[in-house]
Amino acid sequence: MAKAKTKFVCQNCSYVSPRYLGRCPNCGAWNQMVEEVEHPEAIKAKATPSRRVSDLESKPVSIDDVSFEKEPRIKTELSELNRVLGGGIVPGSLILIGGDPGIGKSTLLTQVSGQLASSGKVLYVSGEESASQIKMRADRLGISGKNLYLYPQTDMSYIRDTISDMKPDYLIIDSVQTMDEPEITSAVGSISQIREVTAELMNIAKQDNITVFVVGHVTKGGAIAGPKILEHMVDTVLYFEGDTHHSYRILRSVKNRFGSTNEIGIFEMRTKGLVEVTNPSEIFLEERLADTNGSAVVVSMEGTRPILVEIQSLITPTIFGNAKRTATGLDHNRVSVIMAVLEKRGNLMLQNQDAYLKSTGGVKLDEPAIDLALAMSIASSYKNLGIPATDCFVGEVGLTGEIRRVNRIDQRVNEAEKLGFKRIFIPKNNMGDWSKKNKIQIVGVSTVTDAMNKIF
Ligand code: TYD
Ligand code: MG
Repeated sequence: MAKAKTKFVCQNCSYVSPRYLGRCPNCGAWNQMVEEVEHPEAIKAKATPSRRVSDLESKPVSIDDVSFEKEPRIKTELSELNRVLGGGIVPGSLILIGGDPGIGKSTLLTQVSGQLASSGKVLYVSGEESASQIKMRADRLGISGKNLYLYPQTDMSYIRDTISDMKPDYLIIDSVQTMDEPEITSAVGSISQIREVTAELMNIAKQDNITVFVVGHVTKGGAIAGPKILEHMVDTVLYFEGDTHHSYRILRSVKNRFGSTNEIGIFEMRTKGLVEVTNPSEIFLEERLADTNGSAVVVSMEGTRPILVEIQSLITPTIFGNAKRTATGLDHNRVSVIMAVLEKRGNLMLQNQDAYLKSTGGVKLDEPAIDLALAMSIASSYKNLGIPATDCFVGEVGLTGEIRRVNRIDQRVNEAEKLGFKRIFIPKNNMGDWSKKNKIQIVGVSTVTDAMNKIF
């Protein structure tokens, strides 16, 4: 037998080194190198493709000669989920769902399994819970059915065998980080394990035309734990997000080979599981007081994802000594700059005012596009004049008081429209050529003074 080879793989970026390193030379992460042993036989076996492509498929084909059929879609009873998937589930696709612990991934998939069991056989593989625990949850959700099979298992070779015996139509894997590919010697949940398990699941999905849902844990930063290649491999990547202290959850598609990635689905976690929310704007405006001042909503980008957050300000006259400036969830320097701009360019007397600012929901906002909302929220509190609850803002504020262009403006406008806002203030330079089909009224503003005149 040939000698087994040892290598060290960075768990952050998959950089491979023949010896242990404290710091990865590729991505700079500390203590991420993990030893992995590879047997040459296993590598060889992997190199031979398990599936042979037919001769016809392997030849280049002129694009005009390629015929395609519209993929049939399987609709679940959750129309929000169907929408995020681009109109329903595509048979034989691999869907990855990521999200914080306790956000409701297992709940969502249990509900979906229950619904899918009426149209086909569902195999629910869990590496995290026992069959009775899943049953308990299913009971609470009011789910039952002969066609829903629960299988607490983590060993991929057993799972593979079970699939070829049972021939399910749908496979749920909860979660990919708990699955163990016995041929790989590294620890469960390590980069190589996750990669191999996902490749295996992709094979199962494409070969046997089984729709596979995979749960993925996320890291502290919010990305799906494991190599980025994981997201490249699968057909669809959904993120389930929301504040565990609140009951609303947003399902967002960040990659979809069969549909648009601009869709979001909104759910509410109730005692009987997830219920879809069909009028999302109400949620975001629900806790805002209608007749108040000092509140402005911003459409901020979180990575590639737009989110709507309320910025609140309380401006009160300073009684003792220096004016106080407190900011929660916002950059302190940014707040000072905006206040100085409002003072000098917008003629607001802010130097003898205390300012307390916060972003609601504990969201941290730190991109330039929040400036306009920040400025308007401060101005609103100072002037004691409210901003309509259906208005929102995007725009960077320059030191001369001008409103500067921001990126991804279409995505922001569409998100605001989707969430039921009636008017959005954007930089004049971003006005571009809007097609008239937007329901939301788009107002271009050039300076902070211009914005204040249009709002108050
Ligand atoms: P779960 O789906 O187990 O989260 P994940 O798989 O993403 O880690 O859901 C966990 C939370 O959902 C848990 O805190 C309890 C709550 N929950 C409800 O409020 N109602 C329900 O019907 C169910 C099943 C869970
Ligand atoms: Mg779970």
